[in-house]
Amino acid sequence: MKEITVLAPATVANVVCGFDCLGFALDEPTDRMTLRLIDEKTVKIKHFDDFRLPTEPEKNIAGVALLAILDVIEENIGFEIEITKNIKPGSGIGSSSASAVGAVVVANKLLNDRFSRLELAEFAMKGEQVASEGRHADNVAPCLFGGFTLVRSVEPLDIVCLDYPKLFVTIIHPQIEVKTSEARKILPTEIPLKSAIQAWSNVGALVAALAKGDYGLIARSLEDFIVEPVRKKLIPHFDALKAESLAAGALGGGISGSGPSVFMLSETLETAINVEKAMREIYAQTGIEFNTYVSKINPEGVKILK
Ligand code: HSE
Repeated sequence: MKEITVLAPATVANVVCGFDCLGFALDEPTDRMTLRLIDEKTVKIKHFDDFRLPTEPEKNIAGVALLAILDVIEENIGFEIEITKNIKPGSGIGSSSASAVGAVVVANKLLNDRFSRLELAEFAMKGEQVASEGRHADNVAPCLFGGFTLVRSVEPLDIVCLDYPKLFVTIIHPQIEVKTSEARKILPTEIPLKSAIQAWSNVGALVAALAKGDYGLIARSLEDFIVEPVRKKLIPHFDALKAESLAAGALGGGISGSGPSVFMLSETLETAINVEKAMREIYAQTGIEFNTYVSKINPEGVKILK
């Protein structure tokens, strides 16, 4: 029976100033998914990890994304998917998007590339919505396209792949769970015009700085006065992580997606490793378990293995 395997990477959404619109892909960690076609219009899910995710397709992010594909195809076929998640759910590094994007990309391959990448993003967003209870594609886009992406609009979906210079990413993932849906409920529904001006000025400047490779401007643009002040309360020692990372030479950074992971961008690998050391020193004193990752930006996104 024909089967195809993919690796779907972790992603960082928001990138400080670009709430719900900016994101980039990481090399590590990745989720692994293998899919086969079956001759029954249903989705069968097997998990090979310890996260105890639901296997009913309607409650499973990959399942919902695959059901969205089955809804629009006429043949009497379905999917059997085996999922090994390495990206912990609720980590803030795009676990749900990796599930959804990996599933739809591998399904599309088995269907002989029937759908465009934008159509795949739409299917994946239906899965992502299960976790976030909101419609956003800032993790889906970089997972699918790779690199740095900007979602100009979700209705209709309009994704812009950005140019960017060499950058290294340090991530700390405290082993506490922050549900995206909960982290969205605490956000303000309205913001002062002054904050909006700061936000769109920073997003514009960050996009220009990435294209020009202007590291100083990247650093100055990584600020957020809307979401970070509210959400940082969910992340123990956030201010210390940020201060010590900047002291270690990071360009800047903040909450990865809806947290609890925190990311920092650096110009060199050496600095990114120093930042990792600074982050580890802070968390080593807290008693909270944590993982750290140092990665470059992953230019290709989800990868088909065979
Ligand atoms: N932009 C989304 C949020 C990303 O911050 O709620 C969730 O991973």
